[in-house]
Amino acid sequence: MARKVTKAIFPVAGLGTRFLPATKSVPKEIMTLVDRPLVQYAIDEARAAGITEFIFVTSRGKSALEDYFDHNLVLEQELKSKGKDDLLETLNATNMESGAIAYIRQHKALGLGHAVWCARRLIGDEPFAVMLPDDVIAADKPCLQQMIEAYEETGGNMVATMEVPSNKTSSYGVLDVGENVGTVVRAKGMVEKPKPDEAPSNLAVIGRYVLGPSVLYNLNQAKTGSGGEIQLTDAIAEDICNGVPVFGYKFDGQRFDCGSKSGFLQATVAFALARDDLRDDLNQYLQDLYATGQAAQ
Ligand code: G1P
Repeated sequence: MARKVTKAIFPVAGLGTRFLPATKSVPKEIMTLVDRPLVQYAIDEARAAGITEFIFVTSRGKSALEDYFDHNLVLEQELKSKGKDDLLETLNATNMESGAIAYIRQHKALGLGHAVWCARRLIGDEPFAVMLPDDVIAADKPCLQQMIEAYEETGGNMVATMEVPSNKTSSYGVLDVGENVGTVVRAKGMVEKPKPDEAPSNLAVIGRYVLGPSVLYNLNQAKTGSGGEIQLTDAIAEDICNGVPVFGYKFDGQRFDCGSKSGFLQATVAFALARDDLRDDLNQYLQDLYATGQAAQ
């Protein structure tokens, strides 16, 4: 049986240039879907999956992220004295137990594989999860929990996967699979951002990983790959060559690419429509918009 997964790495060092000018002073991961920062969705998903140690790989300009996970005693007192218990509860979900969260700096932007490698000493010789907060997944059972349950049966390495249009493979890591049937597929290979005519399949890697420490050993010797960066995909693919199994997990849920503006907007609408306090107003607005072709005043 596979060892329990209790640690997760959150690579959050990226500059978020696609969201300039906002990201000039606000880390992308703090940007909100309705009223919750992207990173809060990732943390909630990790907690639901049994993660108790949270490792953020950050960079210059990300201190707002560290503040976000601190207790805000003044605000807590204020809400308490006014009897605003529901808001206090919302705030409590953002607090981290002392010692449960660690921040490591990625000193140079050398790629996702390098960011994960920066956390190697905090992982040690254990399996671990990697979560990319840009990929937000709405699901009844949180995606990482689905994966960890499957991983407990299979061991090895597991990456979240979904089918993407064939002309989009150059935006993703792509799996080479023997047979594309069932929820768990065994990979024969993995390629980072292949051109459509070179892609081994249309099964793309989505930003949830459950990995063994062997991937960190592979990253020790990693060479630059696609885009001149050290790629996590390549280090996982090396495990396949070394006989360590790699599985793709076709998760149940809807993924939003919040690294893109249109994905971010779609997620905002979807999460707002899922909320009792916003659904009716927003629905009305959207209906008016479609009916008249212009926004209601
Ligand atoms: C990263 C990974 C890629 C994966 C993608 C999922 O790419 O390198 O393999 O498919 O996340 O979102 P990025 O989107 O950071 O370029």
